[in-house]
Amino acid sequence: MSIGKIFAHRGASACAPENTLPAFALAARQGADGIELDVHLTKDGELVVIHDETLERTTNGAGLVGDHTLAELQTLRADNGMPGFADARIPTLRQVLELAAGAGLLINIELKTGVLLYPGIEQKTLALVAELGLQRRVIYSSFNHYTIAQVRRLDPQAETAYLFSDIICDVEAYAAARGVRGLHPALYAVKMPGLLDAYLQSGLAVRVWTVNEEPDLRALLARGADVITNDPARARAVRAALG
Ligand code: G3P
Ligand code: CA
Repeated sequence: MSIGKIFAHRGASACAPENTLPAFALAARQGADGIELDVHLTKDGELVVIHDETLERTTNGAGLVGDHTLAELQTLRADNGMPGFADARIPTLRQVLELAAGAGLLINIELKTGVLLYPGIEQKTLALVAELGLQRRVIYSSFNHYTIAQVRRLDPQAETAYLFSDIICDVEAYAAARGVRGLHPALYAVKMPGLLDAYLQSGLAVRVWTVNEEPDLRALLARGADVITNDPARARAVRAALG
């Protein structure tokens, strides 16, 4: 059985402001295999990397991301209150993809269409990934499974995964029947007896979020599940100890 991979959740977000270039660069330095990031559309149709639909929690702005132009968003601080990162800004998806490609990282793009639908976000994202030649490096996920269907319509070869927090009955069969090759369950879901076994035995890729504590990291990595973690340095240390 192979040991699982490590994806940095919003970058190395335990040590740098989430979803910023410093967090993604740090993930690479800490030895993550990949990064996870969240994508939204601006008022002028640009793809930007930020978690929330709104600006208040992680920036010094206010209101909806989608009510601002890219130029407006780029004036905001995105340091999320973390000292030493005053220059951190909301990055474009292009900036993050270029950084990740340069660092040889896998890229899990989460399309944030669960609250706002952002018409056209799937097409724009796939076009950018293709322009940069990163199709084989990207995994698309979303809580909105119609978004995943749209990604698959646009590119049947795209690697996709269903993201879910509430437990879904027979999610392995549901994914396999739709050509979706990965499951991204919440950590608490795989603590239900039998579920992790079922997911792993299905042959689908299993990437569990958000896994930050050593016992969980150890248990999942050892069994071949990938982890999406805020702390890739800790995950690397745990994995190294597995031998
Ligand atoms: O992709 C896994 C995880 O990031 C999903 O939840 O809210 O952190 O985007 P959230
Ligand atoms: Ca996410």
